[in-house]
Amino acid sequence: NEQRREQLATFSREAELGGGTERINKQHEQGKYTARERISKLVDPDSFIEFDKFVVHRSHNFGMEKQKYLGDGVVTGIAKINGQQVALFSQDFTCWGGALGAAHAQKICKVMDFALANKIPMIGINDSGGARIQEGVDALAGYAEIFYRNVQASGVIPQISLIMGPCAGGAVYSPAMTDFIFMVDKTSYMFVTGPDVIKTVTHEEVTKDALGGAHTHNEKSGVAHFRCDDEDDCFERVRELMAFIPACNQIKHTAKLTTDSVTRTNNKLKNFIPDNSKKPYDMHELILEVIDDQHFLEVHADFAKNILTGFASIGGIKVGIVANQPNFLAGCLDIDSSVKAARFVRFCDAFNIPIITLVDVPGFLPGTVQEYGGIIRHGAKLLYAYSEATVPLITLITRKAYGGAYDVMASKHIRADINLSYPTAEIAVMGADGAVNIIFRNDMANKAKHVENYENNFANPYRAAELGYLDEIINPEITRQRLYQYLKALEHKKVNRPERKHGNIPL
Ligand code: COA
Repeated sequence: NEQRREQLATFSREAELGGGTERINKQHEQGKYTARERISKLVDPDSFIEFDKFVVHRSHNFGMEKQKYLGDGVVTGIAKINGQQVALFSQDFTCWGGALGAAHAQKICKVMDFALANKIPMIGINDSGGARIQEGVDALAGYAEIFYRNVQASGVIPQISLIMGPCAGGAVYSPAMTDFIFMVDKTSYMFVTGPDVIKTVTHEEVTKDALGGAHTHNEKSGVAHFRCDDEDDCFERVRELMAFIPACNQIKHTAKLTTDSVTRTNNKLKNFIPDNSKKPYDMHELILEVIDDQHFLEVHADFAKNILTGFASIGGIKVGIVANQPNFLAGCLDIDSSVKAARFVRFCDAFNIPIITLVDVPGFLPGTVQEYGGIIRHGAKLLYAYSEATVPLITLITRKAYGGAYDVMASKHIRADINLSYPTAEIAVMGADGAVNIIFRNDMANKAKHVENYENNFANPYRAAELGYLDEIINPEITRQRLYQYLKALEHKKVNRPERKHGNIPL
C-alpha cells in the first residue's frame, strides 16, 4: 500500500514538472508563469482539482514514442473563482511548446464537455506553438473537435480565453469563438499566418508584436477585449469579469454586494451636459456617477472608442452598459463601434443581463471608407442585436439622437422597455444645418432664421414625448434612482418569440 502511494506521488511529481526545470526556467525568464502556476494564481486557493494528469500521446511518428510527458502538455480540471465553479485548461509551453496533439486535444474536449454538461464557465489559458507537427492530421482533427464544442457551448456557458504566449494558425479559432479574449502585453500574440509567411507572400515586413500583439488586437482589429500589463494583472481582471457574469444562461443573477444608496442624487450631472451641443463631454464620467461604487468594467476599452461597452451594477443589479462617447468621433456610429456594441448586446442577451443604453449620437460616420467597408451590413448588426434581445432594455437619451442611429440605439420602436431622456435631448432626422440646407435650399438668404426655427421645433425631446416614444423626461439628478426603479420593475420580464431554427444576422 505504502509503495502504491509512493508510486502515485512519483508520477504526480513527474507530471507536475512538465518539460523539465530548464524549460520552466526559460518560461520564467520570459516573464511567463508555467501552466500550473497560472491556474493556482487565477483560481481560489486550494480549489483546483486536476483531470487526466497521466494522459500521454499515442503517436509513433518521428520517434515520438520515445518522448512522452505525463499530461501531454496541457493541464485541465475544475476549480472555483470567487466561490463559483469553473472548468479550465492551461497549455504547458514546456512540453513541445504547448503544441496540440490528439491526446492533448482530447483532454481539452473532455473538460469542455464537462463544463457544458454541468453548466459552468469554461476558461482556456493558451500558450502554444499550434498543431503538433509530428501528429499531422490528428492534431488538426483535435482542433476542429474543440472548435465544434466552442460553438455548442456558445450562449450556454460563458467562455473566456487568456492568451499568454503564442497562438497561431488554426489555434486562433478556438479563442476567436469564445466570449472574451484577454491578452498580455509583450508576451502574447495571435495571428493566422506569421511574419515569415507574410514576408514570402506579400513581401511585407512586420514584427510578431506589431502583427498580433496585445496592442494590435485590442486597438486595431478588435479581436481581443482586454489588454493586460502582465499575467498577474490578467488573472485579477478575469476574476473581476467573473463577478459580473453568470455561470450559465439558465441562472438567475445573484446580486452584487454594495452599500451605495439607490436614492443617492446625481448632483454632479445637474449641469453636466454642455449647453453647446457641439461641445463634447466624457460619457465615462456620467456612467461612473450613476453606477454602484464607480465600478465599471469596460470591455473592448481600446477599440472603437466612440462607443463604450462594459459591466456595472445599479443597486446590486448587474447590468451591461452601451453608451455613445461624444468625446471620440463625436460619438457617431461606424463599422467598428456597431460591431463592438452588437457583440456585447448579444452576450448580455444570451446571459440574461439587462442592458442600459446611453444615447448621444449625431448619426453614422459618413465617407467612402465606411460605405465600401460595408457600414450598411455592420450597422445592421447592432440594429439586429437590439431587436432580437429579450432582456430588460432601458434607454436614456442624454443629448443627440439623430437619424437612423436614433432607431438603432435601442429605441422604443425596436422594443426597448423604457425610453427616457434628459430635457437636453435632441431627437430629429438630422441636425438643423443639414436639414435647412435641404428643405430651404431655395431660401438660403434666410438660413439663420430657418435654422433657429428648426432648432426650436426639433432640437428637443418633446415631439418624441408627444408620440409616446419617450416614457419619461427626467432631470439628470435622478438618473440613478430612476434606472434602479425601472430595473426592479423589469425584473420578471419574459418575452416569447416565434419558433425558428435561428435568425440570419447580417454577417
Ligand atoms: N509542433 C511540435 N513541436 C513544437 C511546435 C509544434 N507546432 N511548436 C513548437 N514546438 C517545440 C519546439 O520544437 C521546441 O521543442 P524543444 O523544447 O524540444 O526544443 C519547443 O516547442 C519550444 O519551441 P521554440 O521554437 O524553442 O520556442 P520559441 O519561443 O523560440 O518559439 C514558436 C515559439 C511558437 C514561435 C515556434 O516554436 C514556432 O514557430 N512553432 C511552430 C508554429 C507552427 O507553425 N505551428 C503549426 C501551425 S498551427
